[in-house]
Amino acid sequence: MKVFVTGGAGYIGTHTLLQLLAAGHELCVFDNFSNASPVALTRVRQLSNRDFAQVEGDIRDAGALHRALADFAPDAVIHFAGLKAVGESNEKPLLYYENNVTGSVNLLAAMDAAGCRRIVFSSSATVYGEAQYLPFDEDHPIAPTNPYGRTKAMVEGVIADWTKATPNASAVLLRYFNPVGAHESGRIGEDPRDIPNNLMPFVAQVAVGRREKLSIFGDDYDTRDGTGERDYIHVVDLAAAHLAALAYSARATGCEAINVGTGQSITVKELVAAYEAACGHAISAYIAPRRSGDVASSYAATAKAEQLLKWRAELNVNDMCASSWLWQSDNPNGYPIDVSARRR
Ligand code: NAD
Ligand code: WQD
Repeated sequence: MKVFVTGGAGYIGTHTLLQLLAAGHELCVFDNFSNASPVALTRVRQLSNRDFAQVEGDIRDAGALHRALADFAPDAVIHFAGLKAVGESNEKPLLYYENNVTGSVNLLAAMDAAGCRRIVFSSSATVYGEAQYLPFDEDHPIAPTNPYGRTKAMVEGVIADWTKATPNASAVLLRYFNPVGAHESGRIGEDPRDIPNNLMPFVAQVAVGRREKLSIFGDDYDTRDGTGERDYIHVVDLAAAHLAALAYSARATGCEAINVGTGQSITVKELVAAYEAACGHAISAYIAPRRSGDVASSYAATAKAEQLLKWRAELNVNDMCASSWLWQSDNPNGYPIDVSARRR
């Protein structure tokens, strides 16, 4: 199948490319490298021993998208491209609405022009907002609490409307919980440009000596040990969910939102302990005040993914930490930035 992958050079995109290539799909990656390195795609080619088309372009540029889709004529699109930092979205909401919402509208219009009717979209559990009940199932009310989350909820609505108006269209909105970990090779992984916002990359940078200590944001939540609990999902399992979603979209029409998580919660302290076991030394941490906007607990109901996608997570927190550590210790500063290293 021919699959057009926006944002394919990023963290989740690169892991998914590897599985798409292994399954024999023909790919075109469309990315503006605003939060990714071209080296990541070079490494995907090396690891897979396969090649694919690559277009440097911005989803806000409707003309560039139309040309790329018309040239490639895909059977399906996986849409990862987007900005994802919650804090930045509070400071620059218009940038987020333009990039994530306008960019997605452009993409659907270009798909229409190219006659492509299948899309898998990177949504987020953040669309649920404050939990009315747990675990979050897909019928939980949608009430995001920040601009980033609102862009995801809006794009879900746009895609649902597009699906209704487009004969035989099929859309899967994958609501990721907390993606972590890396490919088993240690050659690709998460490479935050600035100070990591998320727990696992921060822990990884403390473990490798790039940062002094972890701030644990609150130990007075109503959880097993007082620290926040989340549903961490291994990025390799998450990548597999995209292939399952593509297969599902070939046999179904309409629009479905589907959680992608393990259904298990892990606290901050539990994750740090697992990382210490993976890296073999203590991780310096202290208890800091709660982070504004955080909730105590978030984890997924997974029945819908199992029923519709025939997919479930296989990897556990030890796999997540071990693979993250392999990536971080082999690439302490992330992907190389010097141009001469780009083709390695
Ligand atoms: P990432 O930043 O590593 O990947 C996003 C990719 O999109 C990057 O390669 C970036 O260069 C590209 N991109 C951004 N804006 C673009 C634009 N205007 N035109 C073309 N390319 C553009 O992030 P990720 O963690 O791989 O996330 C992928 C998707 O999954 C995002 O949409 C994100 O919102 C969503 N998501 C991520 C998480 C998470 O915690 N990582 C959780 C839920 C949902
Ligand atoms: C996890 C836990 C923190 C950092 C965010 C986005 C969400 C989604 C995934 C994209 C919490 C604690 C964290 C640190 C800490 N992204 N923590 N010290 O907040 O669940 O979700 O990323 O869609 O939209 O909101 O993930 O990794 O930031 O936090 O103690 O330095 O770790 O308080 O309990 P979160 P996270």
